[in-house]
Amino acid sequence: MKFFLDTADVDEIRQWNETGLLDGVTTNPSLILKSGRDIREVLAEICDIVEGPVSGEVASTDYDSMLSEGRKLAKVASNICIKLPTTMDGVRACRTLTDEGHMVNMTLCFNANQALLCAKANASFISPFIGRLDDMGIDGMELIEEIRQVYDNYDFETEILAASVRTVNHVKACAMAGADVATLPPSTIEKLVKHPLTDSGLAAFVADWEKTGQTI
Ligand code: G3P
Repeated sequence: MKFFLDTADVDEIRQWNETGLLDGVTTNPSLILKSGRDIREVLAEICDIVEGPVSGEVASTDYDSMLSEGRKLAKVASNICIKLPTTMDGVRACRTLTDEGHMVNMTLCFNANQALLCAKANASFISPFIGRLDDMGIDGMELIEEIRQVYDNYDFETEILAASVRTVNHVKACAMAGADVATLPPSTIEKLVKHPLTDSGLAAFVADWEKTGQTI
């Protein structure tokens, strides 16, 4: 499963990119606002750091403006992935922009029918928002499983990019369900490696090694 980092904070992106574990980055208008920076400037810097797809989201909601903004964002760097909302205008813009050769990430997806339409529009990625469904008492992981089944039924090439990932259990469940990508807040990715038995076991190994008086 590919890991994308869900942030526009270039320091966090640089830090995680150095681990070799990062396959891309996703941003959205809220993350751009949080960064306090100009969207094209910060996306250009992120694209310089990360080789993989970097999602930059359009701000408009009508077809023509989405096309115009998407084409402008695509000019920032060759690894820009244009992010569009899963509305009818967004799906139409997805088909037009992918026909032009651009990568497109369809965001704010909350059911399998939306995901089906996006795959038919040749989306590069579909972003089902797990956490926001969970917030409503709906099982967000069920949506990942449904989309996986639909896409496998018809050999769609659109990659399932699990988004609104809030917990390490979401990450495991996404991997079990066969999501192609999970986009993770830095706070979640940090927790993936942690286990108290690993820490206590390592401390015991270190203590016992010191007693051997040896060096390697
Ligand atoms: O990529 C989408 C993600 O940023 C949304 O996360 O926690 O605001 O639902 P959240």
